[in-house]
Amino acid sequence: MRKYKVVVVGAGNIGALFDTPDSKEILTHANAFLRNEHFQLMGFFDVDRKKTLEAARRWQVKAYTSLDEAMEEADVVSCTVPDAYHFEVLKKIAEYPIKLVFAEKPITKNQREAQEICGLYDKRNIPLQVNYTRRFVTEFMELKKKISEYGKFLRGTGYYGKGILHNGSHMIDFIRYLLGDITDTKSNYAFIDFEKDDPCVEAELKMAGGVFFMHPLDCSVATLFEIDLFFDKGRIRMTDGCMKVEEYKVLPSETYAGYYNYISVQTYSVQYDSSFKNAVNNIYNVLENKEELICTKEDAKKVLEICKKLQKC
Ligand SMILES: NC(=O)c1ccc[n+]([C@@H]2O[C@H](COP(=O)([O-])OP(=O)(O)OC[C@H]3O[C@@H](n4cnc5c(N)ncnc54)[C@H](O)[C@@H]3O)[C@@H](O)[C@H]2O)c1
Repeated sequence: MRKYKVVVVGAGNIGALFDTPDSKEILTHANAFLRNEHFQLMGFFDVDRKKTLEAARRWQVKAYTSLDEAMEEADVVSCTVPDAYHFEVLKKIAEYPIKLVFAEKPITKNQREAQEICGLYDKRNIPLQVNYTRRFVTEFMELKKKISEYGKFLRGTGYYGKGILHNGSHMIDFIRYLLGDITDTKSNYAFIDFEKDDPCVEAELKMAGGVFFMHPLDCSVATLFEIDLFFDKGRIRMTDGCMKVEEYKVLPSETYAGYYNYISVQTYSVQYDSSFKNAVNNIYNVLENKEELICTKEDAKKVLEICKKLQKC
């Protein structure tokens, strides 16, 4: 069986170090490709040689000494460098005859760069999948399929931290994925808790005929990522980093005749490690069966545009 050769550029946490070959969960690009029979993890390239060596030793693959050397052996490239280097690395790797790139979010730090990357990848005909993680989680894919059963979207609230672009973009992408496009936005500056050029903002997003409010919490206090969505037939509440989901239905009150309440009907935990599995399966099906990418560069560019608008408060 033919296997696609994979190289990881950026041998840090999400590229290589969040897990090991015998971890129960898949938490890195390396592990995601290693565990899929259609791919062969070839090795790592990192500008920090120690990181390249550490990752190569951990995953028992090659430690490339240059990007050129790494790209000579790559069909598929994971781009897992820090946000500030996404543009530079995505631009450089598009010069090589590669078949697909799996890039970490955000696509770039600004819209000019995102525009250039989208144009370049279109021109070179290289599919670019962006890792907005929640899109690939099995339980959320199921939730999206049945979202119309909840009725009309009314209002929602989300809590996040670590910057509107760095982490808030995960929330914006996720609600766009579930509910559709954002038609209008407002924001107020709140504070900086992570990167100096990426404030946390209070935001109001109009979408799907309703409104979604984003409230930041300083990440030095706690890491928070929670969403509560109200519809006219139900409610979806996601807590604990959206790992715990509670589904409610609007039902007649058991106590007061003529009143309706949101009554809990189902609670479940989400298995996040399905995210990398589904992302890599999707990548294989894009390469072999012309399936659509689950998170396209255009999705990531759209989210970036929204974040940039919100930052200008
Ligand atoms: N999708 C998610 O849920 C999720 C989770 C964590 C991190 N991320 C994203 O992943 C990216 C990496 O985060 P991390 O925590 O793994 O960072 P990290 O700092 O642990 O690792 C990044 C590595 O990239 C290397 N690097 C920097 N510039 C390079 C270059 N030009 N070429 C090759 N290597 C280079 C660094 O030396 C470092 O080892 C970030 O963009 C972050 O936003 C996404």
